[in-house]
Amino acid sequence: MVTPSSPPRGPFITIEGPDGSGKSSLLPRLAATLRARGLEVVTTREPGSTPLGERIRSIVLDTEPKIDRTGRADALLFAAARTQHVDEVIRPAIARGAIVLCDRYADSSMAYQGAGSEIPLAEIRALQQFATGGLWPDLTILLDLPVEVGLARKGDEITRFEAYHDRAYHERVRAAFLGFAAEEPGRYAIVDATAGPDAVLEAAEAALGRLGARWPELRR
Ligand code: TYD
Repeated sequence: MVTPSSPPRGPFITIEGPDGSGKSSLLPRLAATLRARGLEVVTTREPGSTPLGERIRSIVLDTEPKIDRTGRADALLFAAARTQHVDEVIRPAIARGAIVLCDRYADSSMAYQGAGSEIPLAEIRALQQFATGGLWPDLTILLDLPVEVGLARKGDEITRFEAYHDRAYHERVRAAFLGFAAEEPGRYAIVDATAGPDAVLEAAEAALGRLGARWPELRR
């Protein structure tokens, strides 16, 4: 008897972490190491990466004009952008076998809108399930670092999230990410983001190797 198996697809990998953890500098370097091996890599980010998502990005992140809204409204805006991103970019890419490297995803909503804005986590998780159609990452690389180090790194380049949320909010976000990693050690790899860029890249490459049983091309 033939055992039914899911059709082959590419790996879906997300990079998460508090603000200033260096996700956006790691992502192109990690993509470059994979592309150098001849692999197709799609790099993308949230919120954004589709015409709809980029419009939502400016609503949720721009500091001017300041538009008041609740944490729940924020959660729905991020989720709407995410749905479009999954349908328009992520699913088609993994369906053709590409490796998707995504800067932030559903775990960010759980950390920021859930823990940060104190919306019950079960509700935020259910929203993510709806928004993504149940697409969760195969691997999540968490770049962890102390809040003050991250915020200092961001310097002047601040979004509404840094401008209007206090230190305690960011501490809840960091603790939430670490909590998710503890709950799902198989999906999460924690990387010390205070290490230099080369050490962070090295650790991220090692983490990809965890998916080697299903995607041998990710082994170094
Ligand atoms: P961005 O400028 O991309 O920051 P970073 O480089 O730190 O990722 O801004 C993204 C901000 O949006 C960041 O502060 C986290 C927040 N965010 C949420 O609150 N919920 C979400 O679902 C996502 C994707 C991001």
